[in-house]
Amino acid sequence: MRTDLAGKAVVVTGGASGIGLACARAFRAEGARVAVIDRAPGADVRADVTDEAALAAAVETVARGFGGLDVVVGCAGISGPIGTPLAAITAADVAAVLAVNVTGQLLLVKHARPWLADGGAVVLLGSDSAFTAAPGMVPYCASKGAVVALTRALAVELPGIRVNCVCPSVVDTPMARADLGDVLDDPAFPVQAAADVARQVLFLASPASRPVNGQALLADFGLSARSAFPA
Ligand SMILES: NC(=O)c1ccc[n+]([C@@H]2O[C@H](COP(=O)([O-])OP(=O)(O)OC[C@H]3O[C@@H](n4cnc5c(N)ncnc54)[C@H](O)[C@@H]3O)[C@@H](O)[C@H]2O)c1
Repeated sequence: MRTDLAGKAVVVTGGASGIGLACARAFRAEGARVAVIDRAPGADVRADVTDEAALAAAVETVARGFGGLDVVVGCAGISGPIGTPLAAITAADVAAVLAVNVTGQLLLVKHARPWLADGGAVVLLGSDSAFTAAPGMVPYCASKGAVVALTRALAVELPGIRVNCVCPSVVDTPMARADLGDVLDDPAFPVQAAADVARQVLFLASPASRPVNGQALLADFGLSARSAFPA
Protein backbone atom coordinates (compact mmCIF):
# COMPACT_ATOMS: atom_id res chain seq x y z
CA MET A 1 0.00 0.00 0.00
CA ARG A 2 1.27 3.47 -0.86
CA THR A 3 0.91 5.89 2.03
CA ASP A 4 1.92 9.02 0.06
CA LEU A 5 3.28 10.51 3.28
CA ALA A 6 6.72 11.44 1.93
CA GLY A 7 7.50 15.07 2.67
CA LYS A 8 4.40 15.53 4.84
CA ALA A 9 4.74 17.58 8.02
CA VAL A 10 3.78 15.47 11.03
CA VAL A 11 3.56 16.36 14.71
CA VAL A 12 3.36 13.55 17.27
CA THR A 13 2.63 14.13 20.96
CA GLY A 14 3.90 11.52 23.37
CA GLY A 15 6.55 10.57 20.84
CA ALA A 16 9.34 10.15 23.38
CA SER A 17 8.16 6.65 24.30
CA GLY A 18 6.10 3.65 23.32
CA ILE A 19 3.48 4.03 20.61
CA GLY A 20 4.33 7.68 19.90
CA LEU A 21 7.98 6.80 19.40
CA ALA A 22 7.01 3.97 17.05
CA CYS A 23 4.74 6.37 15.14
CA ALA A 24 7.52 8.94 14.77
CA ARG A 25 9.85 6.24 13.41
CA ALA A 26 7.19 4.88 11.05
CA PHE A 27 6.39 8.31 9.59
CA ARG A 28 10.10 9.04 9.15
CA ALA A 29 10.50 5.70 7.35
CA GLU A 30 7.83 6.90 4.90
CA GLY A 31 9.87 10.04 4.24
CA ALA A 32 7.72 12.37 6.33
CA ARG A 33 9.09 15.29 8.34
CA VAL A 34 8.32 14.55 11.99
CA ALA A 35 8.49 16.57 15.20
CA VAL A 36 7.76 15.15 18.63
CA ILE A 37 6.13 17.11 21.44
CA ASP A 38 6.47 15.44 24.83
CA ARG A 39 7.06 16.44 28.43
CA ALA A 40 9.85 13.86 28.63
CA PRO A 41 13.42 14.00 27.31
CA GLY A 42 13.68 12.84 23.72
CA ALA A 43 11.14 15.36 22.45
CA ASP A 44 11.96 17.86 19.74
CA VAL A 45 9.91 20.36 21.75
CA ARG A 46 9.24 19.82 25.45
CA ALA A 47 5.69 20.62 26.58
CA ASP A 48 3.01 19.20 28.83
CA VAL A 49 -0.22 18.71 26.87
CA THR A 50 -2.25 19.76 29.90
CA ASP A 51 -0.61 23.20 29.89
CA GLU A 52 -2.53 24.99 27.15
CA ALA A 53 -0.10 27.89 26.75
CA ALA A 54 2.92 25.57 26.60
CA LEU A 55 1.20 23.20 24.17
CA ALA A 56 0.07 26.06 21.92
CA ALA A 57 3.61 27.44 21.84
CA ALA A 58 5.06 24.01 21.07
CA VAL A 59 2.61 23.41 18.22
CA GLU A 60 3.37 26.85 16.81
CA THR A 61 7.13 26.24 16.99
CA VAL A 62 6.76 22.94 15.11
CA ALA A 63 4.27 24.27 12.56
CA ARG A 64 6.33 27.41 11.82
CA GLY A 65 9.41 25.25 11.36
CA PHE A 66 7.60 23.05 8.86
CA GLY A 67 5.61 25.85 7.22
CA GLY A 68 2.32 24.19 8.20
CA LEU A 69 1.10 20.75 9.22
CA ASP A 70 -0.35 17.81 7.29
CA VAL A 71 -0.78 15.23 10.06
CA VAL A 72 -1.36 15.46 13.81
CA VAL A 73 -0.97 12.37 15.98
CA GLY A 74 -2.02 12.50 19.62
CA CYS A 75 -0.24 9.75 21.55
CA ALA A 76 0.44 11.49 24.88
CA GLY A 77 -1.51 9.59 27.50
CA ILE A 78 -1.40 8.19 31.01
CA SER A 79 -3.09 5.19 32.53
CA GLY A 80 -3.82 6.71 35.94
CA PRO A 81 -4.69 4.49 38.90
CA ILE A 82 -4.64 0.99 37.38
CA GLY A 83 -5.74 -1.84 39.66
CA THR A 84 -7.40 0.60 42.04
CA PRO A 85 -10.92 -0.19 43.24
CA LEU A 86 -13.58 2.47 42.78
CA ALA A 87 -13.72 3.21 46.52
CA ALA A 88 -10.08 4.29 46.48
CA ILE A 89 -10.27 6.55 43.43
CA THR A 90 -10.24 10.28 44.10
CA ALA A 91 -11.57 13.20 42.08
CA ALA A 92 -7.95 14.28 41.62
CA ASP A 93 -7.12 10.87 40.06
CA VAL A 94 -9.98 11.23 37.59
CA ALA A 95 -9.14 14.85 36.76
CA ALA A 96 -5.49 13.96 36.10
CA VAL A 97 -6.38 11.18 33.65
CA LEU A 98 -8.99 13.24 31.82
CA ALA A 99 -6.64 16.25 31.63
CA VAL A 100 -4.04 14.32 29.63
CA ASN A 101 -6.12 11.76 27.74
CA VAL A 102 -9.08 13.95 26.78
CA THR A 103 -8.42 17.66 27.30
CA GLY A 104 -4.84 17.31 26.08
CA GLN A 105 -6.06 15.75 22.83
CA LEU A 106 -8.72 18.44 22.34
CA LEU A 107 -6.19 21.23 22.97
CA LEU A 108 -3.73 19.63 20.56
CA VAL A 109 -6.28 19.70 17.75
CA LYS A 110 -7.47 23.19 18.72
CA HIS A 111 -3.97 24.64 18.37
CA ALA A 112 -2.92 22.56 15.36
CA ARG A 113 -6.07 23.38 13.37
CA PRO A 114 -4.95 26.81 12.08
CA TRP A 115 -1.81 25.19 10.66
CA LEU A 116 -3.42 22.11 9.14
CA ALA A 117 -3.61 21.96 5.37
CA ASP A 118 -6.95 21.19 3.74
CA GLY A 119 -7.06 17.41 3.45
CA GLY A 120 -5.02 17.08 6.63
CA ALA A 121 -5.46 14.21 9.04
CA VAL A 122 -5.63 13.84 12.80
CA VAL A 123 -5.16 10.46 14.48
CA LEU A 124 -5.77 10.18 18.21
CA LEU A 125 -4.86 7.31 20.52
CA GLY A 126 -7.97 5.81 21.99
CA SER A 127 -7.92 2.28 23.39
CA ASP A 128 -9.94 -0.91 23.41
CA SER A 129 -10.76 0.33 26.94
CA ALA A 130 -13.30 2.59 25.23
CA PHE A 131 -15.30 -0.55 24.39
CA THR A 132 -14.35 -3.23 26.91
CA ALA A 133 -13.30 -3.01 30.54
CA ALA A 134 -11.08 -4.82 33.00
CA PRO A 135 -11.47 -4.28 36.74
CA GLY A 136 -9.52 -1.45 38.32
CA MET A 137 -9.39 0.84 35.28
CA VAL A 138 -12.44 3.06 35.66
CA PRO A 139 -10.89 6.50 35.03
CA TYR A 140 -8.83 5.22 32.09
CA CYS A 141 -11.83 3.50 30.48
CA ALA A 142 -13.90 6.67 30.89
CA SER A 143 -11.15 8.76 29.31
CA LYS A 144 -10.83 6.48 26.29
CA GLY A 145 -14.59 6.37 25.77
CA ALA A 146 -14.39 10.15 25.67
CA VAL A 147 -11.65 10.00 23.03
CA VAL A 148 -13.98 8.06 20.72
CA ALA A 149 -16.73 10.68 21.16
CA LEU A 150 -14.18 13.49 20.83
CA THR A 151 -12.95 11.97 17.57
CA ARG A 152 -16.46 11.90 16.11
CA ALA A 153 -17.22 15.45 17.27
CA LEU A 154 -13.97 16.84 15.86
CA ALA A 155 -14.58 15.14 12.52
CA VAL A 156 -17.92 16.94 12.32
CA GLU A 157 -16.48 20.19 13.65
CA LEU A 158 -13.60 20.44 11.19
CA PRO A 159 -14.62 20.21 7.54
CA GLY A 160 -11.69 19.33 5.30
CA ILE A 161 -9.78 17.61 8.11
CA ARG A 162 -10.18 13.90 8.77
CA VAL A 163 -10.17 12.91 12.44
CA ASN A 164 -9.97 9.25 13.45
CA CYS A 165 -8.69 7.30 16.42
CA VAL A 166 -7.02 3.94 16.91
CA CYS A 167 -8.18 1.72 19.75
CA PRO A 168 -5.62 -1.01 20.32
CA SER A 169 -5.70 -3.74 22.92
CA VAL A 170 -2.65 -4.17 25.14
CA VAL A 171 0.56 -2.92 23.53
CA ASP A 172 4.03 -3.73 24.84
CA THR A 173 5.25 -0.27 25.90
CA PRO A 174 6.79 1.22 29.05
CA MET A 175 3.27 2.20 30.18
CA ALA A 176 1.89 -1.33 29.89
CA ARG A 177 5.05 -2.86 31.42
CA ALA A 178 4.72 -0.54 34.42
CA ASP A 179 1.04 -1.39 34.85
CA LEU A 180 1.01 -5.10 34.02
CA GLY A 181 4.55 -6.37 34.36
CA ASP A 182 5.51 -9.83 33.15
CA VAL A 183 1.95 -10.86 32.30
CA LEU A 184 2.75 -9.24 28.94
CA ASP A 185 5.08 -12.18 28.27
CA ASP A 186 2.35 -14.77 28.92
CA PRO A 187 1.52 -16.28 25.50
CA ALA A 188 -2.08 -16.80 26.70
CA PHE A 189 -2.70 -13.07 26.19
CA PRO A 190 -2.30 -11.51 22.75
CA VAL A 191 -0.10 -8.41 22.90
CA GLN A 192 0.65 -6.05 20.05
CA ALA A 193 3.89 -4.23 19.39
CA ALA A 194 4.03 -0.46 19.21
CA ALA A 195 5.01 -0.87 15.56
CA ASP A 196 1.68 -2.67 14.92
CA VAL A 197 -0.18 0.38 16.19
CA ALA A 198 2.05 2.73 14.20
CA ARG A 199 0.99 0.98 10.98
CA GLN A 200 -2.67 1.52 11.89
CA VAL A 201 -1.90 5.19 12.52
CA LEU A 202 -0.08 5.47 9.18
CA PHE A 203 -3.11 4.11 7.37
CA LEU A 204 -5.49 6.58 9.01
CA ALA A 205 -3.07 9.47 8.40
CA SER A 206 -2.60 8.54 4.75
CA PRO A 207 -4.78 9.43 1.77
CA ALA A 208 -5.14 5.63 1.48
CA SER A 209 -7.94 6.00 4.06
CA ARG A 210 -9.44 9.07 2.33
CA PRO A 211 -13.13 8.21 2.94
CA VAL A 212 -12.59 7.20 6.59
CA ASN A 213 -13.56 10.00 8.98
CA GLY A 214 -14.82 10.19 12.56
CA GLN A 215 -14.10 6.52 13.14
CA ALA A 216 -12.53 4.41 15.87
CA LEU A 217 -10.35 1.55 14.62
CA LEU A 218 -10.73 -1.18 17.25
CA ALA A 219 -7.75 -3.53 16.90
CA ASP A 220 -8.00 -6.26 19.55
CA PHE A 221 -7.39 -9.56 17.74
CA GLY A 222 -11.18 -9.93 17.57
CA LEU A 223 -11.57 -10.41 21.32
CA SER A 224 -14.49 -7.98 21.60
CA ALA A 225 -16.27 -9.57 18.64
CA ARG A 226 -17.18 -12.78 20.42
CA SER A 227 -20.78 -13.37 21.44
CA ALA A 228 -21.74 -14.74 24.85
CA PHE A 229 -23.68 -17.45 22.94
CA PRO A 230 -22.43 -20.78 24.32
CA ALA A 231 -20.96 -22.26 21.15
N1 LIG B 1 0.27 0.47 25.98
C1 LIG B 1 -0.98 0.04 25.82
O1 LIG B 1 -1.32 -1.11 26.13
C2 LIG B 1 -2.00 0.97 25.17
C3 LIG B 1 -3.16 0.39 24.65
C4 LIG B 1 -4.13 1.22 24.08
C5 LIG B 1 -3.91 2.58 24.03
N2 LIG B 1 -2.76 3.12 24.55
C6 LIG B 1 -2.60 4.56 24.48
O2 LIG B 1 -1.50 4.87 23.66
C7 LIG B 1 -0.94 6.12 24.06
C8 LIG B 1 0.55 5.95 24.25
O3 LIG B 1 0.76 5.04 25.33
P1 LIG B 1 2.09 4.19 25.49
O4 LIG B 1 1.68 2.83 25.93
O5 LIG B 1 2.97 4.38 24.33
O6 LIG B 1 2.68 4.92 26.81
P2 LIG B 1 4.14 5.44 27.16
O7 LIG B 1 4.07 5.76 28.62
O8 LIG B 1 5.18 4.51 26.68
O9 LIG B 1 4.24 6.79 26.31
C9 LIG B 1 3.42 7.89 26.61
C10 LIG B 1 4.17 9.16 26.29
O10 LIG B 1 3.29 10.24 26.57
C11 LIG B 1 4.01 11.24 27.26
N3 LIG B 1 3.10 12.01 28.10
C12 LIG B 1 2.32 11.55 29.10
N4 LIG B 1 1.67 12.56 29.66
C13 LIG B 1 2.04 13.69 28.99
C14 LIG B 1 1.72 15.05 29.13
N5 LIG B 1 0.87 15.48 30.08
N6 LIG B 1 2.28 15.93 28.28
C15 LIG B 1 3.15 15.51 27.33
N7 LIG B 1 3.52 14.24 27.17
C16 LIG B 1 2.97 13.33 28.00
C17 LIG B 1 5.02 10.48 28.09
O11 LIG B 1 6.11 11.31 28.49
C18 LIG B 1 5.43 9.36 27.15
O12 LIG B 1 6.52 9.74 26.33
C19 LIG B 1 -1.69 6.53 25.32
O13 LIG B 1 -2.71 7.44 24.97
C20 LIG B 1 -2.30 5.24 25.80
O14 LIG B 1 -3.45 5.43 26.58
C21 LIG B 1 -1.80 2.34 25.11
